[in-house]
Amino acid sequence: TDTKYTFPKGFLWGGATAANQIEGAWNEGGKGVSVADVQKFRNPQGLKELNNIKKNTDITDEMIEEALKSDDETLYPKRHGIHYYEKYKEDIALFAEMGFKAYRFSVAWSRVVPNGDDDINEEGLDFYSNVVDECLKYGIEPIITLSHYELPLHLATAYNGWNDRRLIGFFEKYVQAVVDRLGDRVKYWLTFNEVDSILRHPFMTGGLIESRFEKDEFQEVLYRAMHNQLVASAKVTKYIHQKYPQSKVGCMTTKLTYYPYTCKPEDVLAVQQKMRQVYAFADVQVFGEYPAYLRVKFQKEGMDVGMTEEDKQVLKENTVDFVSFSYYQSSCMAANEAGLELTSGNTTIGVKNPYLPSSEWGWQIDPIGLRISLSDLYDRYRKPLMVVENGLGAKDILTDDKKVHDDYRIAYFKGHIQAMAQAINDDGVELMGYTTWGPIDLLSNSTLQMSKRYGFIYVDLDDFGQGTYNRYKKDSFDWYKKVIQTNGESA
Ligand code: BG6
Repeated sequence: TDTKYTFPKGFLWGGATAANQIEGAWNEGGKGVSVADVQKFRNPQGLKELNNIKKNTDITDEMIEEALKSDDETLYPKRHGIHYYEKYKEDIALFAEMGFKAYRFSVAWSRVVPNGDDDINEEGLDFYSNVVDECLKYGIEPIITLSHYELPLHLATAYNGWNDRRLIGFFEKYVQAVVDRLGDRVKYWLTFNEVDSILRHPFMTGGLIESRFEKDEFQEVLYRAMHNQLVASAKVTKYIHQKYPQSKVGCMTTKLTYYPYTCKPEDVLAVQQKMRQVYAFADVQVFGEYPAYLRVKFQKEGMDVGMTEEDKQVLKENTVDFVSFSYYQSSCMAANEAGLELTSGNTTIGVKNPYLPSSEWGWQIDPIGLRISLSDLYDRYRKPLMVVENGLGAKDILTDDKKVHDDYRIAYFKGHIQAMAQAINDDGVELMGYTTWGPIDLLSNSTLQMSKRYGFIYVDLDDFGQGTYNRYKKDSFDWYKKVIQTNGESA
């Protein structure tokens, strides 16, 4: 029947980006250096090397020194991005042409507080204020991520990143400046992007340079950094709520969806243990307290994350209003992975699922997994949900007449939008919105490639920084426009 696939009135259709993957202008407008600006492009060959995500995001002091001496933007591609800093009006106009109701973007901390511990850079705030106004001009609701893999580098090198409790105060000062400036026009805030990823990508997420620590103390460092981020998140949630009571603050988690490779209880247990490690972060942000398994772990392993009574109270009193997440793919897990074929996924590696097709980067395409994920999260948290990242990284071909026939991307979105419709209509999930990842081609976070394209809009730029930076509409552009126009019915 007609009621089968309807989306709620006011559903927030749109797209999502992160400052460090689009803006460029890494040392302009008073911006300081961020951890993303020292990430080096390695021109990966072959799937295996591409998928070594850990290697792509790990870094040493020597690598940072080398990066700081270099002014080569092609080696450090996040320094040039897609020139959004100068072209944002053109890009937002294209989003508006698609009919976007919402645009999720991040504020780069290092553009607002260049070194993280110094003074506010008004020019940085001016930029984001202009971006917000540009969105509102078209009736696009801004959704702001306050931290998306772009910590000021100085906080990593001088303080050991989020291992140091002083970062809580620095983060508060930065967020207060952003909220004071933009809060009159912005309703939706996300604190830390993929907050759980600190365990997988210590430098990118937490500014932790692993080689500086003893091997056997590093676990404690990771969990301390986690704790400090969670307290910081709760403190800024409090600030936003107090200053603008109508605002909504969300957590943002990586929705990793794993299936047991077999029905062996050991495989099922492996999945459960992995998932509670991922959920632990949002658990704290939604329920205001640590899950039992982590409390036991800290105690048994003698880990001191520096939790005070005041921290406990701050966490308890300042929980989030909604739960947002990224979902791209699913994978399998086995208690014993020896001899099994592995494949990569969003910031992870997993066992290959024989029943699913994969993208060119090995990410397994699974729309049903999105429905499962939505139900998992809604049953667990009973909070409104928002899918704030979903999309297909693929190689596109720009034809001579400047078109891109990306039917594979349309098929991917179609499947996932239908899965959301089922979750809403059949499972009763409360879903506020859907912002696809990279509505305009941008730099890949994991591989730093331009050739891994997610957009409805093609950007003429290759992996080596060559191209005009011109924008062209792909076939998916018109398709998504129609989806939004019909509030999801045409998908
Ligand atoms: C998410 C990140 O992990 O996945 C984004 O929040 C990232 O920053 C996206 O770009 C897609 O991953 P990738 O590695 O293909 O860019």
